[in-house]
Amino acid sequence: MRESTGEAVGKIILMGEHAVVYNMPAIALPFPQAKIITRVYEKRGPVKIMSDLYKGDLLGAPDRLSGLTILISKVMMDFNQPLMDLSIEFKSEIPPERGMGSSAAVAASVVRALFAYFQQPLSEAILLSYVDFAEKINHGNPSGLDARITVLEQPLMFIKGRGFTSINLNLNGYLIAADTGIKGKTKEAVAHVQNRLAKQPDDFYDIKRIGMLVNLALTTIEQQELDQLGALMNENHTLLKTLGVSHPLLDEFCQVALDHGAIGAKLTGGGMGGVMIALAKNLITAKNIASALKQAGAAKIWIHQLED
Ligand code: MEV
Repeated sequence: MRESTGEAVGKIILMGEHAVVYNMPAIALPFPQAKIITRVYEKRGPVKIMSDLYKGDLLGAPDRLSGLTILISKVMMDFNQPLMDLSIEFKSEIPPERGMGSSAAVAASVVRALFAYFQQPLSEAILLSYVDFAEKINHGNPSGLDARITVLEQPLMFIKGRGFTSINLNLNGYLIAADTGIKGKTKEAVAHVQNRLAKQPDDFYDIKRIGMLVNLALTTIEQQELDQLGALMNENHTLLKTLGVSHPLLDEFCQVALDHGAIGAKLTGGGMGGVMIALAKNLITAKNIASALKQAGAAKIWIHQLED
């Protein structure tokens, strides 16, 4: 049977989410512990999707999957292929709608799988343009950060409209990521910030302040000053909370992490649910934080060593 696969990884935004939509810098890293594998194989009949969120004909998929279904239709159209005789199966370890870049990773993995299936060469630039296309449908006004992390798979400092610089995140520390189990709402959260800025232009000060924190964070990363980086993450979280994109459980998780030795903690991604990240100096502390977060009700926890 003719078949092919494509993979893509999730992402963690270390600092700068939301402000990045307004051309401030953000720092993000690929998260290979959470990845997605898409398998495309020959099957008679209309194109089918098999995923945890939906199983059935591509054309009958619910609206919330329209970024994905329109993307698949576009790739098939670009290859002059009818929407027939394919089944597309998704196996994901990236929890959906948690701010871990699931939608961009789904898009990257399916484009990789389809290009392999139709034996077409795929450049980074073409892949990026397809993922950006899907992300615009998914999130309305995306910065493009998620797309770049999942395509390039390296820690990046990104500024919308200006591009990215790869950074060395080889720090002597650990990131703990904890899923609240509550679906984040990136599209709503981005729209919420946009409405807020329209009504209260003074809040743009918070966006600029986040941009400043990210620039300071770049220096602390370069100088391996973990304590200062943690303090900047805390302040970043406070500003995101002020902008209205946190959630009581994210705030609680941050406090639990700090109470158990974290040197910084914040929401990551779109917020309004989703995932919290905390920074720890060593593995013992990271494990203590992880078990406290488990007790506090985290749906899933990852420990990620920053040092290579
Ligand atoms: C979502 O992962 C990150 C946001 O900054 C939106 C974006 O960058 O498009 C909230």
